[in-house]
Amino acid sequence: MPTDKQRVSLPPEVDVVILAAGESTRMHSNTPKVLHHLAGRPLIEYSVRLANALSAKPPVVVVGREADKIHDVLGDRARYAQQAQRLGTGHAVMQAGPLLAGESQTTLVFYADMPLVTEASMRMLLEIHARNATTGGVLSMLTFESTNPRGFGRIVRNTAGDVLAIVEEADCTPEQARLTELNPGLYCYRADWLWENLDRIPVSRKGEYYLTDLVGIAVSQGHRVVAEKVEDATEMLGINTRVHLAEAEMVLRQRINRRWMEAGVTLLDPATTYIDDTVALGRDTLIHPATHLRGATCAGDGCEIGPNTYVEDTTLGQNCVVRYSVLEQAVIEDDVDIGPYAHLRKGAHLAQGVHIGNFGEVKNSYLGPGTKMGHFSYLGDATLGRDVNIGAGTITCNFDGVNKHPTVIADGVFVGSDTMLVAPVTLGEGARTGAGSVVTHDVPAGELVFGVPARPRSGPDNPQA
Ligand code: UD1
Ligand code: CA
Repeated sequence: MPTDKQRVSLPPEVDVVILAAGESTRMHSNTPKVLHHLAGRPLIEYSVRLANALSAKPPVVVVGREADKIHDVLGDRARYAQQAQRLGTGHAVMQAGPLLAGESQTTLVFYADMPLVTEASMRMLLEIHARNATTGGVLSMLTFESTNPRGFGRIVRNTAGDVLAIVEEADCTPEQARLTELNPGLYCYRADWLWENLDRIPVSRKGEYYLTDLVGIAVSQGHRVVAEKVEDATEMLGINTRVHLAEAEMVLRQRINRRWMEAGVTLLDPATTYIDDTVALGRDTLIHPATHLRGATCAGDGCEIGPNTYVEDTTLGQNCVVRYSVLEQAVIEDDVDIGPYAHLRKGAHLAQGVHIGNFGEVKNSYLGPGTKMGHFSYLGDATLGRDVNIGAGTITCNFDGVNKHPTVIADGVFVGSDTMLVAPVTLGEGARTGAGSVVTHDVPAGELVFGVPARPRSGPDNPQA
């Protein structure tokens, strides 16, 4: 590592090229490899985020047949170069030439299937290259040591330790195959040299143009190629198969879990805690085992979530408790407690202090502050005021087989056990329903209704009155 004295300022202008035009045959998938997900983000997102951290200019992503799908995900956060024929990684970089030649002074190139590479490593590469460039160097790269080569290219050095070439696994002599210094595919070039020399790459035995051959070309021109080893080999997990995807998921999960523990979140069992990279958590939140926090989920301070809980695209306020439950696209304000065995679906919005007990389901409904729904109930397309009590077994009959209809329940309503609310229907402030009521008409404020169909206790058409 460079000492502070040796530190050289980063090049002012860096362009990043990300290669994503491969065929992904080893994934056996209809989805392009770089759109497979890792901890809640498509693989390509990790490369683009890395590029964004290193350069103010959007990276050039080299795309192949799946260009449209990749464009749908990245939009104008990237520039695109099309590689019509899959003729290898060197050929792929060539496609970025028309966009980038003559632009920046430095070009970084990496592969879209290396999602675990850190910004710190890439900054190290830029620093190494800045020093290399002061003595005329045109190419710098990172390497790593591993006895499990996973098909990676081998770094060949001479006895003095100078880099001579990268040899692809398929082209290795038995002796080269045993080399343990590997090529993760993280390169930094003097830009003008890169664009001038790409077409010097010879065609390989496989009929491809290997980017890795630029190392030998630079050396043959008398340029010193600087290759620095990265200590943490877990950064260098490339994704070629679904086995690799699972391995990377495990590494990333450990990183994410550590990040949250360092930020003040307690994980009782990190090994069974699954937090997407997209999630945000507050201080002193406690996560129990077998909990999944997915997508655009965030939880405030002091929450307790799990065990056995799945939360996706949901916002939780402060001091909420969620046990053995499934929450999807819900908004939960402060001091709410949920479960066990509750299901909050899209559009559920629980205001402060709401209580959802066991086997409650809420969809597209607002529950006002302090409202309680303790047992075996379903609320769909409903708007509830504050301090409503939903008795056990209450159901909003919101669907008539063709259309959905709304239910409105004003402040302080007491809904008796096993009430069916046949929507559209409105219960006025302070209204009450008797156990087993089937409510087919609006109930005025303060009124008590009961029976099937439900009638007011004192109404003229209620034979029981
Ligand atoms: C490549 C390197 C190898 C390195 C390894 C690290 C080459 C020749 N070999 O091998 O030295 O150890 O990565 O992960 O570079 N791609 C294109 N167009 C193409 C071919 C590939 O865009 O024509 C893209 C792929 O989408 C992928 C990346 O380039 O993101 C690497 O291609 P891949 O086939 O995975 O190369 P490896 O065999 O892993
Ligand atoms: Ca690869």
